[in-house]
Amino acid sequence: MLNKKLEKALNDQINAEFYSSYLYLAMSAHFEAAGLPGCAKWMQAQTQEEWFHGMKMYGFVHGRGGRVELKAIAAPPTRWVSPLAVFESVLAHEQKVTGLINDLVDLALKEKDHATNIFLQWFVSEQVEEEANASAIIGKLRLIGKDSGSLFALDNELGQRVFTPPPPEQA
Ligand code: FEO
Repeated sequence: MLNKKLEKALNDQINAEFYSSYLYLAMSAHFEAAGLPGCAKWMQAQTQEEWFHGMKMYGFVHGRGGRVELKAIAAPPTRWVSPLAVFESVLAHEQKVTGLINDLVDLALKEKDHATNIFLQWFVSEQVEEEANASAIIGKLRLIGKDSGSLFALDNELGQRVFTPPPPEQA
């Protein structure tokens, strides 16, 4: 059974994951408006992935006898000055989420809740991948600079992304 401190902290994280989903949907809408459909599709996959993260925590809270209490999701920004600025915001956001996950792990250990600690390790690894993905795209956008042909090629590449939920044993 989850104790109240962890139940509250996991509920806060569920909100953070759904905010992430909403943020990436705002970025997808921004890219649609900016004529970069591949980047918009990449962000839609990211939106689905964050929704999956939120639902994974939602399921865990119930599975441990806790109560999920959903809160308002804050409005995300709607405009960015460039594709590079969007992906820099992604990286900054993911770094913030990594900090939140690390704080949750610290709390689980402090409360001696080993099941929650084990559950959270999946998110610890996931954050490494999330930060690496954003960093890799930032690197490419920096190389591209103002070369619109290369931006078009990157947009095509990013448009190949499809979100596939991990198999149940890893999820
Ligand atoms: Fe759910 Fe992007 O971390």
